[in-house]
Amino acid sequence: MKTPAVNITNRLNDLASLLKEKMQNRKTFLLTDESVHLHCLGLLIESIGVDHGIEIIEVEDGENSKSIEIFHHICEHLAELEAGKDDLLICLGGGMVTDLGGFIGATYKRGIAYVHVPTSLLAMIDAANGGKNGLNLGPIKNAVGTIANPEAVFIYPPFLQTLPEIELRSGFAEVIKHGIISGGNFWKKITEIEELTPESLIPLIPDAYKVKETITSEDLFEKGPRKKLNLGHTIGHALESHYLTENDVITHGEAVALGIICETLISRKRETLSANDAITIIDIVQRWFDVESYFLPEYNHIRKFLYQDKKNINHELRLVLPFAIGSVEYNIQVEEETVRNCYEHFRNFERKENTSIAHYLVSTM
Ligand SMILES: NC(=O)c1ccc[n+]([C@@H]2O[C@H](COP(=O)([O-])OP(=O)(O)OC[C@H]3O[C@@H](n4cnc5c(N)ncnc54)[C@H](O)[C@@H]3O)[C@@H](O)[C@H]2O)c1
Repeated sequence: MKTPAVNITNRLNDLASLLKEKMQNRKTFLLTDESVHLHCLGLLIESIGVDHGIEIIEVEDGENSKSIEIFHHICEHLAELEAGKDDLLICLGGGMVTDLGGFIGATYKRGIAYVHVPTSLLAMIDAANGGKNGLNLGPIKNAVGTIANPEAVFIYPPFLQTLPEIELRSGFAEVIKHGIISGGNFWKKITEIEELTPESLIPLIPDAYKVKETITSEDLFEKGPRKKLNLGHTIGHALESHYLTENDVITHGEAVALGIICETLISRKRETLSANDAITIIDIVQRWFDVESYFLPEYNHIRKFLYQDKKNINHELRLVLPFAIGSVEYNIQVEEETVRNCYEHFRNFERKENTSIAHYLVSTM
């Protein structure tokens, strides 16, 4: 499969030129959500120029738009507008829009041309890259989807200026995940971050992007090493699914952050991770995601979602675990009792004075 052209530019005019080139002689459709419409679309349309008629398709913000019903509705709309195979779909938004738009791009008329213009940190460094797209099946995350590359990914980091702080933090969870996978200098840069602002995070985008690009270029279809990118996601997706069922709100990154802590504890319990590295990882996650502020459901409430995980083999749990900072392993078969015990240990801890949460969690296992 062709790899997409990727451009990271801080100049809006460059972004507009790249898009105009793609739009030449093509009818253009642009998928976005309400908030991105409000904060980013006007800017983009203005710099592209009003003479390029673009048909805007807008969905509501949030995971509920990544559904079969919305997909159906948009495909019908595209058909009414006589969108053809040679036309262009621009997916402008966070990971929700790039997942939904990518699935439409890959399947409508068996595939039309599409490009991603990610606007959230999470989409810039993760969701818009690597070709995965998907829809949720009710609360089951990404149950339906394909792996298909867009023609191009155009990253304009200044879009982050309007991204709410909670969403910057959400994206930072995936940055931390990439740091645990890569280790080295990138991990060091992550540990040195003192505040989560567009200014502090924009310099991390090229490195964070590169970690994913290197892995997915070797294993696009996730036969092996790409699974490492699912660190934190077995528990994370199960939590996200549970919260979706309860109509409660947790960002994707918050769920992944909690998942990383829990999967770090599981690796420590199995003695495949040193206590030092476990404490370091949990400390960094805890610094930006205060675990005491989350109400975690009992294990039995997330269990059914763990068994929906796409990485499972023969209906048995297979986890992605950190073995060290800079070393992540996949397809690890873990006894359910270990998963349950570590999750419940994490869920039920009580802070002890004069001890960091990370130290306490690891030393009392
Ligand atoms: N395909 C993949 O490889 C992959 C990888 C990781 C995550 N994902 C998926 O990505 C989704 C999460 O993505 P997300 O965190 O970007 O969430 P999101 O797309 O729901 O965006 C979060 C919120 O931020 C708003 N927003 C986005 N950009 C903005 C901007 N520049 N200014 C103001 N508001 C802005 C959105 O409107 C939304 O309200 C999940 O569905 C997850 O499953 C996919």
